[in-house]
Amino acid sequence: MISLKQIDQTKENMHLVVLYNELKELSDIVKTELETSFVKSQIKSNKEIIVFNQYSRFVFLIQKPKETDIPKKAEKLRRLGFEIQKIIDDYGIKEIQIENNTPSTLNILDFIEGLALGSYRFLKYKTDKKKHSLETIYAVDLSLDKAQLKELQNVVEAVFVARDLVNEPLSYLTAEVFSEEMEKIGKESGFKVEVFNKSKIESLKMGGLLAVNKGAKNHPTFNVLEYKPKNAVNEQPIVLVGKGVVYDTGGYSLKPADSMEWMKCDMAGAAAVVATFKAVAENKLPINLIGLIPATENRLDGNAIVPGDVIEMYNGKTVEVLNTDAEGRLILGDALAYAQKYKPILVVDLATLTGSALRALGHQGSIYLGTASSEIKIQFEKTGHLVHERLVEFPIWDEYDEEIKSDIADLKNIGGSEAGAITAGMFLKHFTNYPWLHFDIAGTAFLNKEDNYRGKSGTGVGVRLLYKYLKIFSSVS
Ligand code: BES
Ligand code: ZN
Ligand code: ZN
Repeated sequence: MISLKQIDQTKENMHLVVLYNELKELSDIVKTELETSFVKSQIKSNKEIIVFNQYSRFVFLIQKPKETDIPKKAEKLRRLGFEIQKIIDDYGIKEIQIENNTPSTLNILDFIEGLALGSYRFLKYKTDKKKHSLETIYAVDLSLDKAQLKELQNVVEAVFVARDLVNEPLSYLTAEVFSEEMEKIGKESGFKVEVFNKSKIESLKMGGLLAVNKGAKNHPTFNVLEYKPKNAVNEQPIVLVGKGVVYDTGGYSLKPADSMEWMKCDMAGAAAVVATFKAVAENKLPINLIGLIPATENRLDGNAIVPGDVIEMYNGKTVEVLNTDAEGRLILGDALAYAQKYKPILVVDLATLTGSALRALGHQGSIYLGTASSEIKIQFEKTGHLVHERLVEFPIWDEYDEEIKSDIADLKNIGGSEAGAITAGMFLKHFTNYPWLHFDIAGTAFLNKEDNYRGKSGTGVGVRLLYKYLKIFSSVS
């Protein structure tokens, strides 16, 4: 991770990025007539990033985006940060200073965020471990608080942890190894992790998790994360639940090969929960949080569940499993029912749950639904715009419940061919008795082609969203 530092003054001999309002304010940077006329011509031809050379250093000039809408402006700055990251990398630059000549500190933070997020590489399995070249960013902005840089650094690092976990294949990241990773992160960052092993899961009768695990080669785990600072603003916790299917073959309802290719990403919800705990704990947010992560692979062998099987969930409800590829809701149902014992003020689950969510919004946003108050929903939607992890609410009208009624059990685990993201959500609702939100991140958790600072493969979606939401929650409660 690039380290973020602050300095009081720009240095003569270091590569320089300048965020500016008006060209006339740049008289101590754009000095000679030649430079001035070059810069003017670049502005005329609408270059967003103006690059020129001053002997031993490059100067990159970036005019403050014209957008007045705050979230749009922030996103524009992140993207510019990403663009600069690419140029810096091409030149093999190791250190840069970024001077903020605009009136808002937010501008430089958003810009650095895009730059830093864009520098992510997953190199573990490459023999040539060529990283990004940039090592240190020096921010030159006197109104900037050092703590703000530290906070940003922690959040970006947390996003990287989520991406790493998502990018890890099953050949490394089984449920048990995932739990070890959680324990390691918890120790480093300051939150507790309790791992329930298979026999504990059996004694708790988590029938959904055990059913999905029946065809697996490796044992399941159920992970309880706890962050409980003394100065917490809430007594009853907020609970974050993450789908931790470390690989989804579909089971006997086997996926076709081309939809299976990326199914190591099926624990992205869990990764986002773990990484959010990391960011929250490292930035010491005053908030009581519980995390619940059921983890297993969904695979097939002679013992795997088959379509038609009836299982009993942790809360005693029975489910007819008509499609073994609708496994996420089975393990989440157990976790959501388990969450009841905390008497939570809010439960948020994140899951790569349905292809239907992906088809509805593509990669541009996540579907959400649930029973939480409209205040909470509005706050999440706003936060989604701020961090550009956008959310669209889908309805949970009672009529959809008809779709998941079983002939022989309380519920069946699939609805009809339509409204799949909703019927999946309706299924989960049966396991909740508290204010609840469900985020279906199937479209946003993993990208098959690069998309600016989100990169390619695991995006770490959810981490910046949850962190920001919890930060606002803990500062206004
Ligand atoms: N893990 C998948 C959903 C998914 C799809 C995640 C694409 C990421 C990208 C989930 O377990 C699944 O297979 N859902 C089925 C449910 C269906 C059988 C009711 C789906 O959406 O097709
Ligand atoms: Zn599935
Ligand atoms: Zn799945």
